[in-house]
Amino acid sequence: MAQLEVKDLSLSYPGSRSGSTFLALDKVNVSIEKGEFVTIVGPSGCGKSTLLMLVAALLRPTSGAVQLNQKDVTKPGPDRALVFQDFALLPWRTVIKNVELGLELKKVPSAQRRKEALKYLDMVELGKFCNHYPHQLSGGMRQRVGIARALSVDPEVLLMDEPFGALDAQIRQVMGLELLRIWERERKTIIFVTHDIDEAVYLGDRVLVMSASPGRVIQEVKISLPRPRDLSLRNKAEFTAYRETIWNLLEKQVQANGAWRQDSALS
Ligand SMILES: Nc1ncnc2c1ncn2[C@@H]1O[C@H](COP(=O)(O)OP(=O)(O)OP(=O)(O)O)[C@@H](O)[C@H]1O
Ligand SMILES: [Mg+2]
Repeated sequence: MAQLEVKDLSLSYPGSRSGSTFLALDKVNVSIEKGEFVTIVGPSGCGKSTLLMLVAALLRPTSGAVQLNQKDVTKPGPDRALVFQDFALLPWRTVIKNVELGLELKKVPSAQRRKEALKYLDMVELGKFCNHYPHQLSGGMRQRVGIARALSVDPEVLLMDEPFGALDAQIRQVMGLELLRIWERERKTIIFVTHDIDEAVYLGDRVLVMSASPGRVIQEVKISLPRPRDLSLRNKAEFTAYRETIWNLLEKQVQANGAWRQDSALS
């Protein structure tokens, strides 16, 4: 049985004219198994972030529902942790205090909080940096703090919105490998939004391809590449075939909405 179900989910934002609305998501259906790594690609503005925010319940749907373990999700909770592109660290808090934040919200006692935070900082190889401040870290290190913070609350589902988007290409690949290593060990369910098709194929068990706005899931591409995966996979014929399939699906959508980012893997 699916762990997470998105059922006929639609969301309209208030439009620019008074009384008007803008349909961002149109009856999206997704079903995700426990421990699955699902990646999402789609044209800019198609509603990927909106979808993650609905799963996190930071937004309420206009219609439809999100269910976790067959129960409607109605408010944010530690069972769904969100990792953003811009790290979202508090600059006045040290690294360890940033990781402890989620545990504070869960009302975990202070000594245990520290122990847990250190465990996850060690996992992302930042134990030695626990008393540094965010500005003393590189972009990749900051993103690892964000991942440690999300994992430390022991969520059932990890929601990642272009988490490596601000990193340069090489660091990004290393971070992808690290995330796979953590996922292979922790087996959290992950929903990972990216505009990089290679990243989507390389990481995912399944790639959901979304339409241009209003966003719908137009196709699910199952990625049957063996695990554990490493970077050499990118040169294999099967990998190239997946890349091409997804690119072909997206090309039509991008033409429809005329938008794709300059930093995309497609440019
Ligand atoms: N608060 C808001 N009010 C009104 N419209 C919004 C709001 N947030 C997003 N939108 C619109 O909803 C659509 C979907 O936005 P969203 O941020 O989910 O797209 P996205 O797929 O994440 O795009 P990107 O790839 O650029 O991050 C866009 O057209 C956007 O302009
Ligand atoms: Mg977005």
